[in-house]
Amino acid sequence: MAGGPEGLFMRKNNIETLKKKIRTKKARVAVIGLGYVGLPLAMTFARKGFKVIGIDISEKRIKKIATGVSYISDVSDEKLRKLLRFKRFAVTNDFTAVRSADAVIICVPTPLRRKKTPDMSYIRSAVKKIKDNIRPGQIIALESTTYPGTTREILLPILESGGLTEGKDFYLAFSPERIDPGNKLYKTENTPKVIGGISAKSTEIAKLLYDEVIKSVIPVSSANAAEMVKLLENTFRIVNTALVNEIAILCDKFGLDIWEIIDAAKTKPYGYMAFYPGPGVGGHCIPVDPLYLSWKAKKHGFETKFINLASYVNEAMPEYIVKRIKKILSARKKKIQNARILIVGIAYKKDVKDLRESPAINIVHYLRRKKAKVSYYDPFFPYLNIRGIEMEPVSMDAKTLKKFDCTLLITDHTKLDYKFLARNSKAILDTRNIFARLGIKGKNIVKL
Ligand SMILES: NC(=O)c1ccc[n+]([C@@H]2O[C@H](COP(=O)([O-])OP(=O)(O)OC[C@H]3O[C@@H](n4cnc5c(N)ncnc54)[C@H](O)[C@@H]3O)[C@@H](O)[C@H]2O)c1
Repeated sequence: MAGGPEGLFMRKNNIETLKKKIRTKKARVAVIGLGYVGLPLAMTFARKGFKVIGIDISEKRIKKIATGVSYISDVSDEKLRKLLRFKRFAVTNDFTAVRSADAVIICVPTPLRRKKTPDMSYIRSAVKKIKDNIRPGQIIALESTTYPGTTREILLPILESGGLTEGKDFYLAFSPERIDPGNKLYKTENTPKVIGGISAKSTEIAKLLYDEVIKSVIPVSSANAAEMVKLLENTFRIVNTALVNEIAILCDKFGLDIWEIIDAAKTKPYGYMAFYPGPGVGGHCIPVDPLYLSWKAKKHGFETKFINLASYVNEAMPEYIVKRIKKILSARKKKIQNARILIVGIAYKKDVKDLRESPAINIVHYLRRKKAKVSYYDPFFPYLNIRGIEMEPVSMDAKTLKKFDCTLLITDHTKLDYKFLARNSKAILDTRNIFARLGIKGKNIVKL
C-alpha cells in the first residue's frame, strides 16, 4: 500500500468507511465454512440486517443451502428459506465473492491428524484464497478453535504477503466460537463472545462488528489471548469430565451411585461445579482442542500433564463400558461372544446429528472385537458407516427390543421413548442416568 500522505488519507478513509458500514449494517459479511459454526453465524448476521454471503468448498452443502435445505439440526429449513427469499443470504463456492465483502469470518474445521497433531490445512487453504481476493478496508476474523499464535503466525504472514499491512490496510482478529449445538437456551446471539485483534484497531473493529449481532462482546489484549481463552474453556471441560469419569469407576467399585454423589455435591453453593460421567467424550471440540494446546506447549518445551492424563482417562471409557456390559451379561449367565447388543443413541451428543469422535464408534469396535453382534438405533442416523462397517438401524418395536441381550444407552436424545425401552429390554446399561432422571425404574436398568 502507498506509504505517503496520500496512502495515509486512504487508510483513514478505509477505517472510517468500514466503521460506518458496520454501524449502518451496510457492511457485507462473508462467512467461510458453513458447518455447525458457520451456518448459524451467517444466519445470525443475516437476521440482524446484514447482507451475507456464505462460502464453502462442499458443492453438496452449497446446493442444499441454495435450495433451502438445512443439514444442521439447529437451523430450520423455514428460517433458512426466509433469509434466502429476502436476499439477505446467498451461498457460493467461488472465493472471488470475498472481494465484495467488508467482513470475512473463517469457520473452517481444525481436526487432528492421525498422529494427533493439529491439521491446519483447512485454515491455510481458506486464508490463501482470501489473500488472493483481499482488498483494503476489510476486517478478517478467525473463529475456528486453534492453538495460541495461529492468527499471528499463520494468517498474518499469508494475508500480508500480497503487500497490504494489518492494522492499516486491513484488520485481523481472532474470536473463538462458543456455539453449543442442541442448546435450546444459548444460541449465537446470546452467548458472550471474546475477541482479540492483532492490532488495537483490529480489536476495535471486531468489537464493533460483533456488537451488532451479539449481546455481549468481551475484548482481550491480543489474538493470542483470545485463542488461549477458548482452549482454557475446553481444557477445563476435558479435565473435569475425566475426573468425574474416574470417580464414576471408583464409585462402582465402592458400590456407590456416582449420580447420587454428584447431586449431593452440587448442593454446595460455591466451589463445586457438576460434571457428569459418560461413555467417553466426543464431538469436534473436547477430545480435539486441548490437544492443539498440548502440541503447542511441546514446541515451548512444556508438557501439559493434565491434558494428557484427561485424554487417557476419557479414551479408556469405551473399553470400560464394554467391561460393564460383560458384567451385566455374565450376571445373566451369558457370554459377550455372540451376545446381541443394541446401542441406542450413536451421536456424540444429545439431540445432535453429529457422529464426530463419538465414543459409540470405539464401543462398536470393541464389542465387535469381542464377537458381540452389534445393532443400533438413533433417530438422527437412518444409516451408518463406521470405519467401513455399514449398518442400518433396527426398528423400535417390542418384538425387536426383546431380541437383544443388552441395550446400551449411549446418547439420551429427547425423542426416544424411554418407558418403552425400559419395558421391552432384557437389560439396559444407562450411561447417562436418563431413566432415573425421568423417574423410570426397573430391575433391568443398570447405571454407569
Ligand atoms: N461444532 C461445534 O460445536 C463447535 C463449537 C465451537 C467451535 N468449533 C470450531 O469451529 C470450527 C468449525 O467447526 P464446525 O463444527 O462448524 O465444522 P464443520 O465440519 O461442521 O463445518 C466446516 C465447514 O467448512 C467447510 N470447509 C472446509 N474447508 C474449507 C475451505 N478451505 N474453504 C471453505 N469452506 C471449507 C466444510 O465443507 C464444512 O462445511 C472448528 O475449528 C471447531 O473446532 C466447533
